[in-house]
Amino acid sequence: MFNRLIKSNGAHRRLEGWPLVFTILTVGAILVGTVVEFAPIFLVGNATEPLEGVEPWTPLELAGRDVYIREGCNNCHSQMVRPFRQEEIRYGPYSRAGETVYETPHLWGSKRTGPDLARVGGKYPHLWHVRHMENPRSTSPASIMPPYPHMLTKETDYESLPAKMRGLRRLGLPYSDEQIAGAIDDARQQAEAIATEVAEQGGPERLRDKEIIALTAFLQRLGTDYQGSPAEPDREPHEEQEAIEVLTDAAPTAPAPAALADATDRRN
Ligand code: HEC
Repeated sequence: MFNRLIKSNGAHRRLEGWPLVFTILTVGAILVGTVVEFAPIFLVGNATEPLEGVEPWTPLELAGRDVYIREGCNNCHSQMVRPFRQEEIRYGPYSRAGETVYETPHLWGSKRTGPDLARVGGKYPHLWHVRHMENPRSTSPASIMPPYPHMLTKETDYESLPAKMRGLRRLGLPYSDEQIAGAIDDARQQAEAIATEVAEQGGPERLRDKEIIALTAFLQRLGTDYQGSPAEPDREPHEEQEAIEVLTDAAPTAPAPAALADATDRRN
């Protein structure tokens, strides 16, 4: 039977016997695939336009974002809510392309050892993040997240902010000259406000210039620019129930004995 299959496919066999022709045809096929993959990005203009209300990071958030990248948080956390019902129930409205146009490099990620963080902004008070970073087990008892206590002692790198912003502007982010000139003052002011709140909430004092404050500023901003609505609730009630079961690992309800007997009958 195998032989017959090979013989009946003679044309293809012959083609494979001509390495040059076969190579050219293969390259052609790959190029067509490439164009098909790329074309939508250029044709769908709004994928590169920011949604209303979406602004670039403030200087302090930028510093926090670099801490996030340096520490490799994206190895365990994605920043993209996928358009599935169970994701929306857990994390909020799914991520839109227009929300991440200022993300350079983007941190969508593909691994979720921990939860998605695309909409974590505002979910907890500032102090929660300070405690959680210092020791994740203090806020989330069974957490397997590593502790980052050095963030409470390491100084935020303010000095490099203007250069970073100039670099990002060259990549298309709309930072103005004034914003760049005032970056360090702006970052210190925002840090002061967050550090004051942390102290008021009963947390450690004098954290203003520490990396933990920059990181908290960044985390608290995530997903807050776009007040999107969730996808239309157009699912049937049982689909909603199934989505919740996926999230909670709830065992599906066992079929009633009568239904089982019915199925057995039909099989016979
Ligand atoms: C080894 C994997 C791992 C790494 C690396 C990691 N995390 Fe986590 N993270 C987790 C897990 C698991 C949880 C859930 C338990 C918990 O709250 O600690 C979590 C929870 C969180 C939460 C709370 C999310 C929520 O919605 O409750 C935040 C915020 C967070 N991580 C930020 C970070 C930051 C910032 C870094 C980098 C400095 C980081 N994580 C690095 C695994 C990780």
